[in-house]
Amino acid sequence: MEGGKFKPQPQGFATKAIHSGQSAEQWSSHCVVPPIVMSTTFKQDAPSEHRGFEYGRSGNPTRNVLETCLAALDNGKYGIAFASGLGALTATLSMMNAGDHMIVSDDVYGGTGRLIRNLAHRFGIESVFLDATDINSVRKAIKKTTKLILVETPTNPLMKVVDIQLVADLAKEYKAQGIIVAVDNTFLSPYFQRPLELGADLVIYSLTKYMNGHSDVIMGAAITNCADIHSQLRFLQNATGIVPSPFDCYQVNRSLKTLSLRMQQHSKNSIAVANYLEKHPFVKSVLHPGLESHPQHQIVLKQTYGHSGIMSFYIKGGLEESKKFLKALKVFILAESLGGYESLAELPSIMTHASVPADERLRLGITDSLIRLSVGLEDIEDLIQDLEQALKAAQI
Ligand SMILES: Cc1ncc(COP(=O)(O)O)c(C=O)c1O
Repeated sequence: MEGGKFKPQPQGFATKAIHSGQSAEQWSSHCVVPPIVMSTTFKQDAPSEHRGFEYGRSGNPTRNVLETCLAALDNGKYGIAFASGLGALTATLSMMNAGDHMIVSDDVYGGTGRLIRNLAHRFGIESVFLDATDINSVRKAIKKTTKLILVETPTNPLMKVVDIQLVADLAKEYKAQGIIVAVDNTFLSPYFQRPLELGADLVIYSLTKYMNGHSDVIMGAAITNCADIHSQLRFLQNATGIVPSPFDCYQVNRSLKTLSLRMQQHSKNSIAVANYLEKHPFVKSVLHPGLESHPQHQIVLKQTYGHSGIMSFYIKGGLEESKKFLKALKVFILAESLGGYESLAELPSIMTHASVPADERLRLGITDSLIRLSVGLEDIEDLIQDLEQALKAAQI
């Protein structure tokens, strides 16, 4: 059953998405749509006297426009764009030194786990994965060397919700240590959740998902209010070279203009699908933060302005039934990724989360019966009819 009311969205989000960073006056032509500046180098007036741009990796006018708009949407001061969501995470991890320790919520995107388990360890960064919905286990895991707490909320694919404010307050108790609280906000976008308002220091995005929303750009970003984190990430953006192309920046900037409209429709469609699935006899349980049955539903209502199109459910049956269901879908596309206008469905245990160690997957509940949906913007009746016929096919 659909649960309670989310936080009311304050006025101004859609206006910022359309106007922040976009002023026509910044261009000599007064063009209303920001240009795509593809030039990799910029003429200088005299040696080392330039007009704000020298070389495309260290700065680009189209990228600046996007970064300004991204910062505004999270009510942040600084936005830094990267070549992918994992690029933004790589830069975040690169702020740490050998011997530093990080705490990570256990049910993160498989690629984030892989980056930390397989790469960060090689650089001497220690990590522990734990259930961050349990604040006591986060508290117990803090060491003198802890420098970063990284949480994803809602988590992927189990939709567990972490109380961001509790984690941020806990980190502040260790102020002298300067623990950074970073939230991967990819699943909700700043339209539905703004972690900086809740005390987080850093917000990370795979812009590939809702922010671009059209499944045609891979990009990431980090947003912060902290000048020191900003200068470190700005240095790393240039030093590591994890930069997006100006053309892709243009695409994402354009997509942000419809972010609020898209998110409202994703939200309506996903709760309708969740309500439908919850009543279906071949469905064991539905994981959707907007449902009353969601274990952290009260935290959801306290910290978010709504929920996106991401949800999961357990089908009655195992690998065979899941495969039959996924192969029978006609409107939902069987594919990885999420957050685009099109509806997608996938089996995390053998697709997006195959790189999570098998025992860890089982402990978390990522079984062969768990199906993840990214509910898109199609007509809701068509989506429900599609699920209906695929659930029928799964039982034959
Ligand atoms: C929550 C989350 N964070 C980060 C990433 C990585 O982003 P990208 O694919 O843009 O590198 C993903 C990708 O699926 C994701 O789902």
